[in-house]
Amino acid sequence: MSGGEQIKAPRGTFDVLGEQVSSRATLEARAKSILEGAGYRRIETPTLEATELFARGVGSSTDIVQKEMYTLTDGGGRSLTLRPEGTAPVCRAYVEHGMHKLAQPVKLWYLSSFFRYERAQKGRHRQFWQVGAEAFGSEDPALDAESIVLLGTLLEELGVREVRLRLSSLGSSESRQRYRDRLQKHLRANEGGLSAEVRERIELNPLRAFDSAHEGTVAVMRDAPRLLDELDAQDAEHFATVCELLDRAGMAYEVDATLVRGLDYYTRTVFEFTSDALGAQSGVGGGGRYDGLVQQLGGPPTPGMGWAAGIERILLAGSPPTAGAQAVDLYVGLSDVEDEGSFSRVKLAAFEILSEARSAGLCAQMEMAGRSLKGQLGHANRIGARFVAIVGERETLLKDMQDGGQETLDTTTVVHTALRGLRELA
Ligand code: HAM
Repeated sequence: MSGGEQIKAPRGTFDVLGEQVSSRATLEARAKSILEGAGYRRIETPTLEATELFARGVGSSTDIVQKEMYTLTDGGGRSLTLRPEGTAPVCRAYVEHGMHKLAQPVKLWYLSSFFRYERAQKGRHRQFWQVGAEAFGSEDPALDAESIVLLGTLLEELGVREVRLRLSSLGSSESRQRYRDRLQKHLRANEGGLSAEVRERIELNPLRAFDSAHEGTVAVMRDAPRLLDELDAQDAEHFATVCELLDRAGMAYEVDATLVRGLDYYTRTVFEFTSDALGAQSGVGGGGRYDGLVQQLGGPPTPGMGWAAGIERILLAGSPPTAGAQAVDLYVGLSDVEDEGSFSRVKLAAFEILSEARSAGLCAQMEMAGRSLKGQLGHANRIGARFVAIVGERETLLKDMQDGGQETLDTTTVVHTALRGLRELA
């Protein structure tokens, strides 16, 4: 076969390997324990969904739907999209499985990969991972506070540094519509000061003007009306209660009336955890209430509240304890490495020992790289093997790597002897 040119992973994607695998395993175990302890159950939805789900769910005026989706047409002519986020899919599953008939609130969590065609940089990828939690069927502000505290606890347990929590309320969709009109008037009146990008989006998505770093826009936004000042009485009370509950839980936060999120489905509470240790992409996780989304996706009127946090950003700003490598109980080496082209009798015997050791519950590995005897012992030492068996045709040398002791045994008794040695150790 002739050699080919090297193929690399697509831009903005990455392989997960080495240390990263164990940090992610720790993160997943902590998330599972914290969330399942609070009544959340795991859900995994398909990677591909109908494009319509995101157009309707996330909002056709958002950056995500306008320019970041990976959309394809399948062989049957259907438009499908690689999920850019998890809330709309979980709402779809809630409706599709009739979960409104279960005892409410229904609490679901996920840890999955998502896809957005964004400018790739540190902490911003085109395939990235999120841990997320969504709860349905309760308007209680205690659910908002609980949900926020759960993410705060997760970030703390994973050692995420310099965390800040920003909190606001977007009110109901009616009060937001009224506010949108007022904000559009303010933007049009001050159009000259705005960046071209913000100016173009006055009609489509005026709230995103708060996210702009453009100097003129920032100045215009300083005097802009604030949605938080215009909430109706019920929404204002809901927000005040969420704040009071967070105080009770000892969770520090800043009320930030300029907080807008990049997705259209939010109502009432919105929040974002940032880490100053992250630089430009400082958002670690965020979420809020989406009381109209389930109905918008064809389900019964059902309130919802949740969040998602980026795994890569948590790992960049945090220091989760990594689990050590699995201990190796027995390394099965070969006394005779000369290879006649076919499997030697020594290798057959060694493979039998390997199988027997695993059946007995040992963590065992076998030499498969043709190393010299010295090379095998060096390798066994590097991987931290407790026992090494150097298998011969009839006899086997069993070496205790901890105390250096060794004995020659009948090949059939190797596993039994290693087991006894390990039990003495325990
Ligand atoms: P989001 O703010 O778009 O919200 O994403 C949540 C988190 O995912 C971000 O804070 C960030 O850590 C991470 N993230 C987003 N995009 C990227 C990227 N391109 N590369 C790396 N990390 C990224 C949502 O997705 C909502 N579904 C959250 C939610 C759940 N709201 C209610 N329930």
